[in-house]
Amino acid sequence: MAGDGALPVCWQDCMTSSLGSADRHVYFDNAATSFPKPRAVVDAVVEYMTSVGGNPGRSGHSRSVGAGEAVFAAREAAAALFGVTNPMRVIFGSNATAALNLAIQGILREGDHAVTTAIEHNSTIRPLMEMERRGVAVTVVSCPAGIVDRDEFERSIRPETKLAVVNHASNAFGILQPIAEIGSICKRRGVILLADCAQTAGVIPIAMKDDHIDLLAFAGHKGLYGPTGTGGLAISDGFDHSLIRPLAFGGTGSNSDSVYQPDFLPDRFESGTVNAAGISGLCAGIRHIASIPDGIRGVQSRKRELVNYFIRGAEECIRGFMTYAPPGLIETGVVSFNIAGMEPSDVAFHLAESHGVMCRSGLHCAPLAHRTMGTFPRGTVRFSFGIFNTKDEIDFAIGVLDEISRAWRAHE
Ligand SMILES: Cc1ncc(COP(=O)(O)O)c(C=O)c1O
Repeated sequence: MAGDGALPVCWQDCMTSSLGSADRHVYFDNAATSFPKPRAVVDAVVEYMTSVGGNPGRSGHSRSVGAGEAVFAAREAAAALFGVTNPMRVIFGSNATAALNLAIQGILREGDHAVTTAIEHNSTIRPLMEMERRGVAVTVVSCPAGIVDRDEFERSIRPETKLAVVNHASNAFGILQPIAEIGSICKRRGVILLADCAQTAGVIPIAMKDDHIDLLAFAGHKGLYGPTGTGGLAISDGFDHSLIRPLAFGGTGSNSDSVYQPDFLPDRFESGTVNAAGISGLCAGIRHIASIPDGIRGVQSRKRELVNYFIRGAEECIRGFMTYAPPGLIETGVVSFNIAGMEPSDVAFHLAESHGVMCRSGLHCAPLAHRTMGTFPRGTVRFSFGIFNTKDEIDFAIGVLDEISRAWRAHE
C-alpha cells in the first residue's frame, strides 16, 4: 500500500516528536481522549498557569479579571461552534458525563418519561437508569444496523415524555444519527432534546438551532483537543434554563449577599472554581480546529479518508478482518473491528505491548451499542483516528495486525 503520510502543513503545529521514530508510538485512541494536543493548547495552559493564575469572577485584581476574560473567550468560542448566540449559555464542567448528568438529573422528576436509544454510552444510560429507580419511566428505542428507528422513536413519545437523550455519534461504531430529523420530531411533539455530542464536537458541524437541539453535552478533551477535565453543556437560545435544577450549589463569585443560588447563567450551574487553566487550553483547541483548512468539514473529510484507507487496507491484507458499520456511515474516525477467532483484548494487548500501537478493546462503556451491533459481550478492537494521524501510521498498524493474526493462526 502506498501511504501518503504527509499532514497538511497547518496541521503540523503539534507535539509529534514521538511519532514516526524507530521505536514508534502510534496513538489510535482519540475517541477516549485526543493525543497529541496542538502546541497552542499546551501553550495556552502554560500561559494561564504562569501569567494569569487568578480565580475567574471572584476578585477585582488583574489576575482574577484576566482569568475571567480567558474563561469568557472560551465560552464565546464554544457558543460560536454550536451556533448559540449568548456565550453565557455555555456551562463548563469537568467532562461530557457531568453535562449529561446535569441535564438528565436536572430535568427529570418522578412521573416523567424519557426516551433514549440502544446505541448510547453508559454516561447517558446510567444516569437514566438511576432516574428510573427514582420513578422516571425510560424507553430505549432500537437502532437497527446502528441507526435509530425514527418511527419507533416517534411512537415511543407519550403525553408525559419530557426528555429525549440521543447520541449524535456512537463512540463504539462511529455511526452518526440523523439528529436533525430526531430534533424535528422532538420539536413537533414538545419534547426536550439533549444531544450527546461527546464524539462529534469539533468533528461534525453542529448547529443547535437548525438541528432543534435544546441541550448539547460536549467533551472538551476529545475532538476539541482541550485538556482532560474539560467539557460542558450548551443551552440553546430561548430554552428556559429554569427547567433544569442545579446538581451542585455553592459559591459563584456573584450575589454574595444572598444565601440562595443565583438563577442566571452560567452561575446557576457553575458553583465553585472552574478549571480555568483547562478551559484556556480548550479555547485554544477550538480555535485550532477553526484554523484548519475548511475547519470542521476539513476534519470530517480527513477522518473519512483515514477510516476508508484503513478499512480498505485491512480488508485486503488481514485474514479474518471484520468491521461492523458500513464505511459510508462512519463519520467520526472510529472503526470497530475484530479478527476472526481472536479476543479483542489480545489483539489490543499485542498491538500496544510489542508494537506501540495504542487503541481500546472491549465494550467501550457502551454495552447497549454492542448488543445492538451483535458484538456483546466480547466487544471489538477500536481504532479512533485524530487529526494528527497519518496514512503511514495506518500502514504500520495494518502490518502489525497482519503479523499478529498470522502468529495466532500458526499457533492454532
Ligand atoms: C458518546 C459518549 N458520551 C459520553 C462520553 C463521556 O465523555 P467524558 O469522558 O468526557 O465524560 C463519551 C466518552 O467516551 C462518549 O464517547
